[in-house]
Amino acid sequence: MSTKETELRHEWLRLAPAWIKQARERRMPSRDGLLDNPMLAACGDVRDLTILDSGCGEGRFCRILVDRGARQVVGIDACEAMIDAARELQSEKETYWIADAEDLSFLQDRSFDLAISYLNQCDLLDFRANTREVFRVLRLGGRFIIANVHPMRSAVGDWQTSDDGTKQHVILDNYFEERDRHWKMLDCDFTNIHRTLSTYVKGFRESRFVLDNIIEPTVEAEGLARFPELSDEKRVPNFIIFVLTKPKSSL
Ligand SMILES: C[S@@+](CC[C@H](N)C(=O)[O-])C[C@H]1O[C@@H](n2cnc3c(N)ncnc32)[C@H](O)[C@@H]1O
Repeated sequence: MSTKETELRHEWLRLAPAWIKQARERRMPSRDGLLDNPMLAACGDVRDLTILDSGCGEGRFCRILVDRGARQVVGIDACEAMIDAARELQSEKETYWIADAEDLSFLQDRSFDLAISYLNQCDLLDFRANTREVFRVLRLGGRFIIANVHPMRSAVGDWQTSDDGTKQHVILDNYFEERDRHWKMLDCDFTNIHRTLSTYVKGFRESRFVLDNIIEPTVEAEGLARFPELSDEKRVPNFIIFVLTKPKSSL
């Protein structure tokens, strides 16, 4: 493993305790108030499906999918603490593995109906490797639903404010510089990899996925009532969802 990969893994190890606590208390505005509904809508009817969640964290979305009738959900994550936490709440319909999303060689070809990547590709040094691997393990006609930080937000991110602190607009700069961006979350430093929108789309197409849809979610009234801090989502897109299909005729 490269030094950089090791550093990224350590960031998630440091973040894990606070992250797990917040997830268990359903206090994640970006998930509970914003992304879960459009992600579930993009997944469609999951009854009887075999599903992979790549970068599953402590397993919250896997559990949601099982509650909605999935036959079997396999969650993988590189962070041992996350997988330990997921296993604590595991039902017989879930399986969790500590694994690198860029190397799923322990999973069989064409063994999943649906795959999820819920805010994980922006953490990966090589999102193409993950995309190729997911393509391989999906059955023909299987779908891959990816939630990511919006490339317009991962480029920089800070708000320009007036003297009295009023938010005026978000600064978009250095969009074409594809490199690390450093943030603070839950009082921990962590790193995302910024890439342009066209880099992602090109990577998906190179893997032979068909891009069915791009969704730019914004907050709905219900989410806003529960998490007023999401009001910025009405102004600036923080996230993006890609809906990909593996063609029925793939070799
Ligand atoms: C932003 S969290 C999302 C977790 C979960 N999908 C959710 O939405 O709650 C990103 C997750 O990606 C995992 N991760 C980062 N790099 C990874 C890699 N190379 N392979 C697998 N998982 C990785 C982290 O450990 C972390 O759990």
